Amino acid sequence: MMMSGKTRVAGVMGWPVTHSRSPRLHGWWLEEHGIDGAYIPLPVRPEDFATAVRALPMLGFAGANVTVPHKEAALRACDDVSDLAERIGAVNTLVCRDDGTLYGDNTDGFGFLENLRAGCRGWQADAGPAVVLGAGGAARAVVAALQDAGCPEVRLTNRTRARAEELAASLGGAMTVVDWDARAEALDGAGLLVNTTTLGMEGAPPLEMPLDPLPRGALVTDIVYAPLVTDLLTRAEARGNPVVDGLGMLLHQGRPGFEAWFGVFPEVTDDLRRFVLGEP
Ligand code: ATR
Repeated sequence: MMMSGKTRVAGVMGWPVTHSRSPRLHGWWLEEHGIDGAYIPLPVRPEDFATAVRALPMLGFAGANVTVPHKEAALRACDDVSDLAERIGAVNTLVCRDDGTLYGDNTDGFGFLENLRAGCRGWQADAGPAVVLGAGGAARAVVAALQDAGCPEVRLTNRTRARAEELAASLGGAMTVVDWDARAEALDGAGLLVNTTTLGMEGAPPLEMPLDPLPRGALVTDIVYAPLVTDLLTRAEARGNPVVDGLGMLLHQGRPGFEAWFGVFPEVTDDLRRFVLGEP
C-alpha cells in the first residue's frame, strides 16, 4: 500500500511485539477498504512505555493498540479512559484526540463476546452460569464482559486462589470463587466454560480437567489460539458440546479501534481468519 502525506498511522505497542498478529489484521482491513492508512509494530520496552505513549499524539498518530506487558501502564498514561477500561484496570486501545489528549478503552471483552456470538448462533450470555478458568488480565476482561452481558453467575477458579478472590472483590457482582482442585465440580449446570489460562498453549502444559459434569449444551471456548484447536476444545467437541476457538477474540477486539482511527467498522470473515493465521 502506497503512503502519502495524509496517511493516517496507527500501530501496536508491545514488548516483544514481533509475534503480534495485529499488523496483519489491520493491514488486511486497510487494503480491503482502500484506506490511506498504515498500522505498524511499535516495539517499546517497559521502562520506555510512559514516554513512548505520550509521544503518539505528538507524532500525529491516530492511535494504537497496546498489548503485553503495557496494558495496565496504558491505563495510567491516558487523559481519559472508558468506565469499562477503568473497571478492568487495563487499556488495549488508544485514541489520539484532535486536542492532543489520549483516550483509552478496553475492547478485549467486546472481542470475546462477539467471537462467541459469531461462532455459536443464538448464544446468549444470560443463558446460564459461566465457569472462568484463570484470574489474569484476560480473565478480568472476560468476566467484566460476561457481567455486562447479563450472565447470571460467574464461577471463577484459579491455581492461585487469592488472585481469583481479588478479581471477584474488585469486579463485584454475582461471583463464586471455586478451588482450582474443585474446578470440574464447578461445571455442574454451567452454560459456558472459558479457559483464560495459558494452559493448552504451544509450549505450555495441557489443561487437565474432566468435563463430565458439564451439560452437553454448554458452550466451550478457549482464549488460546496457538494451537487453534486446543486439547480442551477437542475433548469438548468430542462429547458434543458447541465450541468456539480463540482466534476470533483477537480479530473482533480490533474492530472498534480500526473504526476510531480509520472511520470504517470492519468485518471478520473466514478469508481474514486464514490470512491472519498465515494460511494460504
Ligand atoms: P493474562 O494477563 O494473559 O491472562 P497472566 O496474568 O500471566 O496472563 O495469567 C495467566 C493465567 O494462567 C493465570 O490465571 C495463571 O494462574 P496463576 O494466577 O496461579 O499464576 C494461569 N496459569 C499459568 N500457568 C498455569 C499452570 N501451570 N497451572 C494452572 N494455571 C496456570
